[in-house]
Amino acid sequence: MMHIDLLIHSAAQIVTCAGSPGPRRGPTMADVGIISGGAVAVHQGKIVTVGPNDELRAAYTAEREIDAAGRVVCPGFVDPHTHLVYAGDRVGEFEWRIAGASYMEIMASGGGIISTMRATRAASLDALVAQSLPRLRQMLALGTTTAEVKTGYGLNLDVELRMLKAIATLADTQPVSLVPTFLPAHALPPEFAGRADDYIDLIIHEMLPAAVHWHATSRFAAGPPLFVDVFCERDVFNVTQSRRVLEAGRSLGIGTRTHVDQFSVLGGLDLALELGAISVSHLDLTGPEGIALLAESPAVAVITPTVTFNLGGSNYAHARAMIDAGVALALTTDINPGSSPCPSMQLVMAISCRYQRLLPAEAMLAATINAAYAIGMGHRVGSLEPGKDADILIIDAPDYRHLAYEFGGNLVGTVMKQGCIV
Ligand code: NIG
Ligand code: FE
Repeated sequence: MMHIDLLIHSAAQIVTCAGSPGPRRGPTMADVGIISGGAVAVHQGKIVTVGPNDELRAAYTAEREIDAAGRVVCPGFVDPHTHLVYAGDRVGEFEWRIAGASYMEIMASGGGIISTMRATRAASLDALVAQSLPRLRQMLALGTTTAEVKTGYGLNLDVELRMLKAIATLADTQPVSLVPTFLPAHALPPEFAGRADDYIDLIIHEMLPAAVHWHATSRFAAGPPLFVDVFCERDVFNVTQSRRVLEAGRSLGIGTRTHVDQFSVLGGLDLALELGAISVSHLDLTGPEGIALLAESPAVAVITPTVTFNLGGSNYAHARAMIDAGVALALTTDINPGSSPCPSMQLVMAISCRYQRLLPAEAMLAATINAAYAIGMGHRVGSLEPGKDADILIIDAPDYRHLAYEFGGNLVGTVMKQGCIV
């Protein structure tokens, strides 16, 4: 009999999200791999075995046991697209939108991302960390154990690097695993008004090389790798400018993510897929041709239902058609101060089931294993399988479908990160 650190037993359902390597697609997204009355064996922060109670009880003695009786045990959520690090807020703009202004109108008038840029530039590293930490704590309490985090509110060399350092400091000081993404082409900073190509030159010649150098000397040097992202959108960065940034990233050895097809279809999706993007986000306006391209590609499609909800829109990404076509689909909060001030993957699941007709099983896999693959972490997290990190949630419900069926609360009773309750 092997002695282990932890045995979680007698769960109503162990939702393993297990399967063959790679993101789930098509019909495989309807199967979350439930073991009724199961147990999970954990040792040294890793999952050792997942299986029926009797078998695990016969195989292991444990330092500590947790009785999950009547409840669900599932992987921690992975949030694959966040703008968690920023200073200030945009609560005033919220009221302008209620009065009828659109997100892009507010951005064009110098608000939006540029308003958060001003607050972020004015914040010290310590202030940025201090303001971002409560959001991260909320995400953790809501079950998120791994998250991607983008820069994109510095928009100059100094403050974009400050944002990367803030991400590293947050990674040092709290349990959620963070994956950094460099997003200097998030908006055109005002000092470059009318000179977007000059800003792209600065990104290519100074900012990207500096970010790559920072990464190589940071806590992330041994992984996860750095990615570069672009907001390819009408009145933001066009396809030619986006291509220059992403190709420069590629020549420095860093991979591609993109914001595309949110308010306009410019061809950014084709560009991203041509460059071998690991994930592409938003996709609200992506039609049948784009969906067919996505289905053929290895990229994970990351959709943002809380953005559409928050902006009071109706242009939800055609996620049902995407899954039916065989696209690897993931969900994200896209947490940010403008389009989605939302830390909850549970709310994202709830909206996707109602407005995009995902089944709870599909939403569950999109919030765990597929989200993990979207950020290159599918080999480590996102499912309860031997060898993976013991990032485990105990859900205060008898059936995992409650995670999408109920909304507005928090069904996550216990969060474990690498086998420790946090
Ligand atoms: O993913 N669309 C661009 N970027 C963010 C919004 C950032 C902001 O408004 O501050 C997004 O929605
Ligand atoms: Fe975003």
